[in-house]
Amino acid sequence: MALFKTKTNPKVVPAQLKIPEHIAIIMDGNGRWAKKRMMPRIAGHKTGMNTVKRITTAASDLGVKVLTLYAFSTENWSRPNDEVSFLMQLPIDFFNDFVPDLIKNNIRVQVMGNIAQLPDGTQQAVQRAIDQTAGGTGMILNFALNYGGQIEIVAAAKQLAQQVADGTLMVDEITPENFSAALQTHALGDLSAPDLMIRTSGELRLSNFMPYQAAYSELYFTDVLWPDYSADDLLEAIASFTKRDRRFGGLNEKYESES
Ligand code: FPP
Repeated sequence: MALFKTKTNPKVVPAQLKIPEHIAIIMDGNGRWAKKRMMPRIAGHKTGMNTVKRITTAASDLGVKVLTLYAFSTENWSRPNDEVSFLMQLPIDFFNDFVPDLIKNNIRVQVMGNIAQLPDGTQQAVQRAIDQTAGGTGMILNFALNYGGQIEIVAAAKQLAQQVADGTLMVDEITPENFSAALQTHALGDLSAPDLMIRTSGELRLSNFMPYQAAYSELYFTDVLWPDYSADDLLEAIASFTKRDRRFGGLNEKYESES
């Protein structure tokens, strides 16, 4: 149960909300948001960065344990150079501005993806934010930066195959547990699978985002464009999640009691 007061709607929402432990968000629609206003695409990304601040604070206030945000995919390098450069600058600006708030809210930053391929300044900003927030015992803010799910799975398969080749692992010993431990979410332990996966902007696909971890995630799609996404929109997604009957391939209590 959660009592939650939003800025846009200052009444206390006495909903019997079931708060997902891990929420993952595909933040989409920045370009369309800008186009609608006859602004350059990067204006959408800049406003989208402010949405990241808003939703991070809201999720932390709600008691979410992990918030994973898809900030840059391995496929996003194919965008025009000036847009890629802007997207690489965003984490620098975001952390410069927002780390004090993260520390105040006890939030810890983590990243997944191939960070070594990012420009030096971006890598340094990310590492600094990880170090500065390392003492946080509250929500983990997990950025997917230069992340791709298929590459992640292939890398995990190679890691285990190497152990088999080295004779330190038997093929029969490969399990979902040690496979998960080879994925980029390994540091999240039991919380590595998102309970709720949200995509904004009306697109109905996962776009290579956490394909292994999302096996049993509840999916939620909204037409709201990411720059407009609000704490109330997040609550709406959580209200939908609250009503879902998660069976993980089993039966729900109603049917179990009939048998
Ligand atoms: C997708 O919208 C969005 C991205 C590829 C970038 C997401 C980045 C942010 C929201 C800001 C990240 C902030 C930090 C702190 C790293 P799109 O450009 O594909 O939108 P469109 O589909 O409307 O063109």
